[in-house]
Amino acid sequence: MNEKVNHNTEYWQELDRRHHLHPFVDTAELNLEGAKIINKASGVYVWDTDGQKFLDGMAGLWCVNMGYSQPSLIAAATEQMTNLPYYNTFFKTATTPQAELAAKIAEVAPEGLEHTFFSSSGSEANDTVVRLVRHFWQVQGYDNKTIIVSRENAYHGSTIAGLSLGGMATMHGQGGDILPDIVHIPQPYWYGEGGDLSPEEFGLARAQELEKTILEHGADRIAAFIGEPIQGAGGVIVPPASYWPEIQRICRKYDILLVADEVICGFGRTGAWFGSDAFNIQPDLMTIAKGLSSGYMPISGVIVGTRVVDVMTHQFGKFFHGYTYSGHPVAAAVALANIELMQQTNIIETLQEDTVPYFQAMVQRIGKHSTVAAAEGLGMLAGFALVEDRAEECREYCLEEGLIMRAVGSLRLVLSPPLVISRAEIDELEEKVMKALDRLASE
Ligand SMILES: Cc1ncc(COP(=O)(O)O)c(C=O)c1O
Repeated sequence: MNEKVNHNTEYWQELDRRHHLHPFVDTAELNLEGAKIINKASGVYVWDTDGQKFLDGMAGLWCVNMGYSQPSLIAAATEQMTNLPYYNTFFKTATTPQAELAAKIAEVAPEGLEHTFFSSSGSEANDTVVRLVRHFWQVQGYDNKTIIVSRENAYHGSTIAGLSLGGMATMHGQGGDILPDIVHIPQPYWYGEGGDLSPEEFGLARAQELEKTILEHGADRIAAFIGEPIQGAGGVIVPPASYWPEIQRICRKYDILLVADEVICGFGRTGAWFGSDAFNIQPDLMTIAKGLSSGYMPISGVIVGTRVVDVMTHQFGKFFHGYTYSGHPVAAAVALANIELMQQTNIIETLQEDTVPYFQAMVQRIGKHSTVAAAEGLGMLAGFALVEDRAEECREYCLEEGLIMRAVGSLRLVLSPPLVISRAEIDELEEKVMKALDRLASE
């Protein structure tokens, strides 16, 4: 073990190059550059094997909400590993942390959402959504109610169901057809696609695309609508205020299940417990992952509302669906400790009263830089549209300044720092972004 610590960066890069295939990467390009090897983290910072320190403006992959190295999460994992490292939840068994976690999620989730079906990743949870909503209608005799409506430029994961629900053209283009009976409507991206409409008019118009689609196929064909309250991987697209109430109205009018994909927005990211709280959405189902355990353990789930649970209880019989790691006890213990930590530290109040206004004021200042055409954000999320297609270049400059920021396409840059970030650390983040943007302007 100790021997490994002494290996240098080149050693790790070579091992990685020879034996590891990375997600969402051009392998040829990566092989030339070599991966950045991260091997330490604390608070809102990570370090690479060269000892370089980075402020993690992305909270890992939008997930390390409570920051790195939280003692109570580490203790929960250690204790659960010791007592019961694994047991399944198939065949009428349960474990204590998984039972406690499900109850804790019901406590913080919006009203009417009291049951969770567990899995390990956001993608898997969305696979569960597809099977659950279609079966929900099927057992009630609506065999044709199978179409799920999603949006262009949505991200719902990388499994076949996840990428099919998602609206990423680049993903659809690789590996053949997407799942049948999934329809994509245009996204509520006002800055990019709003034209002459005001944000409010545009939000309504884009929500009404759902109604158009329902009328085109017939309501008896549409099972559900799925959407991220704020599109994350799509570039932090904050919908106009008129959008979600109209979506909600249309779903109710035509009896379509409403699914909120809260994988990024859940657990404080929007400054409320859930994005659905922030936008006053009352979903029938919610997909959760990432911030559920602050990324410390892979755990996800679908929070299922009363209406669907009633049908599952009385009409499903056996639901032939589940994963070996559904409700994994160690992951569940860590997620439970994470939510308890959120409650004990009053993180939601701190966000609302202090961190979010401070962070969003910074977002607005960055928006005034000559290289930035538009800045939008909500809670601890921000997206910047650059004046020129140079987002990747800017991301590199940020790295050189010691800041991890993410480029989405060539035009947008996004931020999603740990929710526990302090004012001083936000100041540091701003200074680094501004330096990178100044460099972009001068080169
Ligand atoms: C909204 C949303 N849904 C689903 C997923 C997929 O989650 P995972 O990568 O854990 O499969 C993501 C991942 O970023 C996401 O942002």
